[in-house]
Amino acid sequence: MSPLRIALLGYGTVGSSVVHRLTRADAVRDLTLTRIFDRRADVKRRAHADLRGVAWTTRIEDALCSDADVIVETIGGLEPASGWIQDALRAGKSVVTANKQVIARDGECLLRLAARQGRQLRFEAAIGGAMPIVRAVADGLAGDRLTRIVAILNGTTNAVLSRMDATRCAIDDAIRDAQRRGYAEQDPCLDLDGDDARAKLAILCGLAFGLRVTPEEIAARSAASVTSADVEAARRDGATIRQLACASHDAADSTLTAWVAPVAVPRHSIFGRATGPQNAALITGAHAGEIGVSGAGAGGDATAVAVISDLLAIARDRAAIVPALILKPPKCIRGFGEIADFRIQISDCESRMSDSFLAEAV
Ligand code: HSE
Repeated sequence: MSPLRIALLGYGTVGSSVVHRLTRADAVRDLTLTRIFDRRADVKRRAHADLRGVAWTTRIEDALCSDADVIVETIGGLEPASGWIQDALRAGKSVVTANKQVIARDGECLLRLAARQGRQLRFEAAIGGAMPIVRAVADGLAGDRLTRIVAILNGTTNAVLSRMDATRCAIDDAIRDAQRRGYAEQDPCLDLDGDDARAKLAILCGLAFGLRVTPEEIAARSAASVTSADVEAARRDGATIRQLACASHDAADSTLTAWVAPVAVPRHSIFGRATGPQNAALITGAHAGEIGVSGAGAGGDATAVAVISDLLAIARDRAAIVPALILKPPKCIRGFGEIADFRIQISDCESRMSDSFLAEAV
């Protein structure tokens, strides 16, 4: 079988790591990068003159109409990325994307389009960086009836909060450090305010519970106002503050409870132990109970692992069908206001909303 030909859209943090994996000495067999689209291709091409056999372009049509089998989208943002994914599928390409905003808003339609076209749309990189949570929920645990997901889904906020805890620095210093390391979104408010985690949680609600939920329907409290004093108070309690994303589904009355917020978690829990850009998730099923996954949740190299894994899945079985999502809206979505008790049981420990945020949230 000839290698899978790949055209990349966007040579940023994730895109450049994907290129690195596809072209360097330990390049992945069966995958060949043929084209890179980037608005600044002329400048970037000069800095990467050693990339042989790869055509750079500033014209999106050159990538979408090329002989590539798969388009890898690492541009981010809703538009034009969503339109280009549609164009790629219509042109008979499979698509691998890291774009949580697009999948949260348009994933259902795009998966249907992919199935109609006999092509694949894969998006492991949209959630959790290298932590394989999309496959865990959609495939590995498909045999269970999932009832709850509690997770750290934003690596930047985790890096900020864990640095505040480790170095006792102020939040602004910790944010600058995360930006320097290349974890943050272009607008870091998307990380700290919870918008990034809400998009990822909305996708997980579709995969885990079959529910159509928009990110805006998920309640959120920002982590931007966490202070050194909050972190110290949590420490005195044997806890540390993390941004948790939580969704639980009561199928009997079709009620979803979903929120993203800074929460005091026990230091020894899976969440307290997640430091830097790590993500972690506890997924609860009616039959298997609690399953945990954790690992590098942001950064170019970690996210490129998820992209390459999706590419390899396509290379292994080019005719595979990624099942369309059949979603329905829940009858009722609850956030903070309607929850009487903010405590959540996590395995053998109990987590609680840190007091200052609890006061604001109710
Ligand atoms: N800004 C995101 C994060 C990137 O920090 O988790 C990975 O989705």
